[in-house]
Amino acid sequence: MRILLVGSGAREHALAWKLRQSPLCTELLIAPGNPGMAQFGQCVEIRSDAIADITQLAIDNAVDMVVIGPEDPLALGLVDALAAKNIRSFGPSLTGAQLEADKTFSKKMMREALIPTAEGRSFKSMRDALAYVESRTDAMVVKAAGLARGKGVVICKDPVEALDVVRNIMEKKIFGKAGSTIVIEEKLEGPEISLLAFIDGHTAYILESAQDHKRIGENDTGPNTGGMGAFSPAPRMTDELISNVESEIIVPLLDALARHEIDYRGVIYAGLMLTPAGPKTLEFNCRFGDPEAQVLLMRLKSDLVDVMQACIDRRLDQVTLEWDQRHAVCVVLASEGYGWESDDKVVKGVPIDGVEAAAAMPDVMIFHGGTAMKDGQLVTNGGRVLSVCALGDTLADAREKAYAALRKISFKGMQFRRDIGNNAG
Ligand code: AMP
Ligand code: GLY
Repeated sequence: MRILLVGSGAREHALAWKLRQSPLCTELLIAPGNPGMAQFGQCVEIRSDAIADITQLAIDNAVDMVVIGPEDPLALGLVDALAAKNIRSFGPSLTGAQLEADKTFSKKMMREALIPTAEGRSFKSMRDALAYVESRTDAMVVKAAGLARGKGVVICKDPVEALDVVRNIMEKKIFGKAGSTIVIEEKLEGPEISLLAFIDGHTAYILESAQDHKRIGENDTGPNTGGMGAFSPAPRMTDELISNVESEIIVPLLDALARHEIDYRGVIYAGLMLTPAGPKTLEFNCRFGDPEAQVLLMRLKSDLVDVMQACIDRRLDQVTLEWDQRHAVCVVLASEGYGWESDDKVVKGVPIDGVEAAAAMPDVMIFHGGTAMKDGQLVTNGGRVLSVCALGDTLADAREKAYAALRKISFKGMQFRRDIGNNAG
């Protein structure tokens, strides 16, 4: 099979590595990819959100399956554009992707399907939003409704803070167009956990558990990021909790998608908060998490191409996934400024040393995210630069190996969290 993989982050590097292990994959094209992925396939300089160009690339190369890593091309309708040319892809249609790309839509679906979530309201008008905030006395969460790379959510301790945040999002447009509609929610309390499932329209297959660390700072301080590290399995995700989430959240979602005739064949990611009243859904993402994918794919023993084909052919009920019973840990190495500054202020082009030595260590994988080659030297090219991953018999063992590998890598301004895998439950 000829496969086209769309994306350029560490999640996509992990996908490329795993897709290439399948005997079903005879050729891999990657758009646009990064230097780490080049060993697994041919990287083509097309941005992942250039829908028409990617579709043409798939046609020209008679691609058998397109695997879409990030949310942007999904939300822009890449799956629909490919389907119109009879090209199969792993990922939801444009409408399905609105579960992530439009928090107002997502909330509406959750309410309709009686999926437990925070109480919340949507606002298009700043005046109405401000009036609503003034009518409240408690802590609130203000969210840009559109895609904001995991950063469009601000937790406000009181209405005074929330008034400021509403103005910043709707008047000063700190999240750009993503904030033209906002959602204001009650603040939930409890540990956070993610649950990912393959879905084929009829059946859901829950993946092994994984948990990420969203805040930039140690002990979960500072602003939210796309994710600074992850570990799998997540001890908090007990069998009882998984079956509760499956019956209360995933199955009702599948039913709602079917009722609305939304074509969703791919992976769904439910971000959950374990509140005293039970698990509640914070958000749905319409793709693998980054860095959750890195730890999950390190542990997946089954053929990824086969399971993706099963989703597309709606035969997920015939699939059994096998997992490495060891633990996986991923620590993200980020550029100076990442998380604290806006993305355009993140320092780029800084030489990186030691990746090969780290990658040569046993049970270790280094997945590239924001990297580039400049005059034969690997340099930084984005916020989250590298994902340092390791497998170990215990969580502590996997952590130790990941941090030992990390110590071989250096670049100026490198930041990472030293507490990945701590407080796992
Ligand atoms: P979201 O993009 O909606 O998942 O929000 C990003 C992060 O903000 C989540 O991972 C939580 O840490 C936090 N968050 C979102 N919604 C709430 C809420 N209603 N209560 C408390 N924290 C929240
Ligand atoms: N790690 C969180 C996400 O991928 O959205």
